[in-house]
Amino acid sequence: MSAVALLREIADVGRDRRRGGYSRHAFDGADAELRTWFVEQAERRALSVETDRNGNIWAWWGMPGPGAVVTGSHLDSVPGGGAFDGPLGVVSALHAMETLHTEGFRPTRPLAVVMFAEEEGGRFGVPCLGSRLLTGSLDADQARALRGPDGVTLAEAASRSGLDPARFGRDVPALSRIGTFVELHVEQGRGLIDLDSPVAVGSTVIPHGRWRFSFRGQGNHAGATLMEGRRDPMLPAASLVTTARRIASGVAGARATVGRLVPRPGGTNVIASTVDVWLDARVTGDDRTRSMVDAIADAARQAASEEGCEVTIAEESYAGGVTFDPVLRKRLAGLLPEVPELPTGAGHDAAILAEHVPASMLYVRNPTGISHAPEEFAEDADVEHGARALTEVLRNFST
Ligand code: GLV
Ligand code: MN
Ligand code: MN
Ligand code: MN
Repeated sequence: MSAVALLREIADVGRDRRRGGYSRHAFDGADAELRTWFVEQAERRALSVETDRNGNIWAWWGMPGPGAVVTGSHLDSVPGGGAFDGPLGVVSALHAMETLHTEGFRPTRPLAVVMFAEEEGGRFGVPCLGSRLLTGSLDADQARALRGPDGVTLAEAASRSGLDPARFGRDVPALSRIGTFVELHVEQGRGLIDLDSPVAVGSTVIPHGRWRFSFRGQGNHAGATLMEGRRDPMLPAASLVTTARRIASGVAGARATVGRLVPRPGGTNVIASTVDVWLDARVTGDDRTRSMVDAIADAARQAASEEGCEVTIAEESYAGGVTFDPVLRKRLAGLLPEVPELPTGAGHDAAILAEHVPASMLYVRNPTGISHAPEEFAEDADVEHGARALTEVLRNFST
């Protein structure tokens, strides 16, 4: 079955009628449906399936073992996300396995497709949750305590779906089987439009992190409270939004985003007592990212104190900058002539794994240049181009 046809099979799972696009989050109903679907698809291709201790699902061709050539991505989405971010890598991997099987190919190294849990951090706030737990870059106790907006902890959600959260944590046996990891992914900007190419090889991923700013003031009556003397946490929250834009605009190549802001209690006629604001910040270079966030944090403290509010700032996740393995990239370039290299500002499981194993990525052109939104897209011909490239990579690497 083609990658396009496989994508069509899951086109109705996790549609978000309210926001548009898809909302598929770790251990929710859509995620459960997608996990079942993935297992069925793997079994249909005679792959042997296992769920690791961190909730990532692996589908093996051959005995799981060292030196494996591994590909895959994720099936979860951001809230109201597109159809391609994540699923494209999974369906392309399944299609590649099927193609090689049908051709009678016999790998001399084990091949595997992996589906990582909660890559977007859409429910529990930490992106690349499954790959971070696998590699040990996220502490298991910290992970178990993560709480989604519905108040359910990751430990509770995972155990409701049959996992044992007590087993979360660095998984050396699973990690040490990976010889090479190549993740195919829809491109999330305009890089491939500008390069006029359907596919690219990943070169670097810029540092990125998430910080929660919790502003506390005095909740009160919107009508009975004069403007003077208010301690309204919405003021420093609003100032954070504009300050982040102003500061990031002055740093070459920087991105700073506030995509989520939660006032409590959240009534039109109520001065909020607290406002939580999440900052997503990314700049080429770890030091530059840190110093940009420090500058935004200083401004937020200042704005809070001017309004008589308090603020606490918590780093919820951070991933340093990554350069994908140069030797692997050279091999990919040899196999896929004319395919350019592309840096990205988006985070990926491949970048988490890259600190431990040779890893890189293949990007497929996105003609809208839009991602994390329903407009994210890839033309059928480009999807097929990407799947063919991945098939050649798997064939060559496992021969
Ligand atoms: C995930 O896609 C991210 O880069 O935030
Ligand atoms: Mn994403
Ligand atoms: Mn993704
Ligand atoms: Mn991502």
